Amino acid sequence: MARHEPAAIRRREILSLMAAGALAASLPFPARAQTPNVAALKIGFIGAGREGGALGTLFAKAGHPVMFSSRHPETLTGLVNSAGPNAKAGTVEEAVAFGDVMFLVVPYTAVEQLGKDYGAAVAKKPLLVDVSNPIPRRDGEDFVKQVNEMGGAGVVTAKYFPGAKLVRGFNAIGFGKLEGDATKPDGKIGVPIAGDDKSAIELASALITQIGFVPVLVGDLAMGKYLVPGTPLAGEHTPDEIKHIVTTLKS
Ligand SMILES: NC(=O)c1ccc[n+]([C@@H]2O[C@H](COP(=O)([O-])OP(=O)(O)OC[C@H]3O[C@@H](n4cnc5c(N)ncnc54)[C@H](OP(=O)(O)O)[C@@H]3O)[C@@H](O)[C@H]2O)c1
Repeated sequence: MARHEPAAIRRREILSLMAAGALAASLPFPARAQTPNVAALKIGFIGAGREGGALGTLFAKAGHPVMFSSRHPETLTGLVNSAGPNAKAGTVEEAVAFGDVMFLVVPYTAVEQLGKDYGAAVAKKPLLVDVSNPIPRRDGEDFVKQVNEMGGAGVVTAKYFPGAKLVRGFNAIGFGKLEGDATKPDGKIGVPIAGDDKSAIELASALITQIGFVPVLVGDLAMGKYLVPGTPLAGEHTPDEIKHIVTTLKS
């Protein structure tokens, strides 16, 4: 895998934020102390396929009311049953109305239209976690090239969901690994996150901590371009490994 040149300015900014504790997401996060009501948050999922279904199940089993959504919610009965009594299914519109916070877990080609349809409602919420990725083999080489030319997935989702308190996260941990990673007995797995909004980062960090992972802030939304499959940050890493990898990336 290609190694990238260090970006001294970006790294200094991130390290100084970490040192100052201004963005606590890279540290083992005292979630309940900083966001005492996080356990009660209702979570709406736009996209409840393999990744959205697995993530929503973790949150439902951790005690959150979760609404999975689909354009055909009647297809989600099996998922709802396996996620337990905290889970239910609805339309995308219903999930957006339901969620205190939202997760976006759809093919990236759907993001622009979803932003047009639901962006205004989502912008009123304190957090949108963007798990969606532009993937050449699914979305097409030209589409992915265009997203990258526009600044990559973090910047582009922000453009399509104007005003959303956006954090990218969970983008390159496969759905089949999530449950095992969340309950891993021998050292926690880090979840690299990127965002511009401090409160949203803190909220996302608390939620990530609650289901058994360690959030690691890698930078602003421009760094969200590295939170996709096929980059050095993809896959499962310890928090320390993620912090090291970040020092090798260009902002
Ligand atoms: N699979 C993984 O391990 C993994 C890991 C990390 C990140 N991701 C990312 O997560 C996203 C979803 O991947 P996936 O593997 O979960 O895909 P998937 O199993 O195909 O599920 C896609 C979900 O998106 C919904 N969706 C698609 N088009 C939509 C639209 N126009 N409006 C509303 N909902 C729409 C589908 O709902 P309908 O029932 O309405 O079709 C379905 O719930 C992708 O961007 C992927 O790169 C995946």
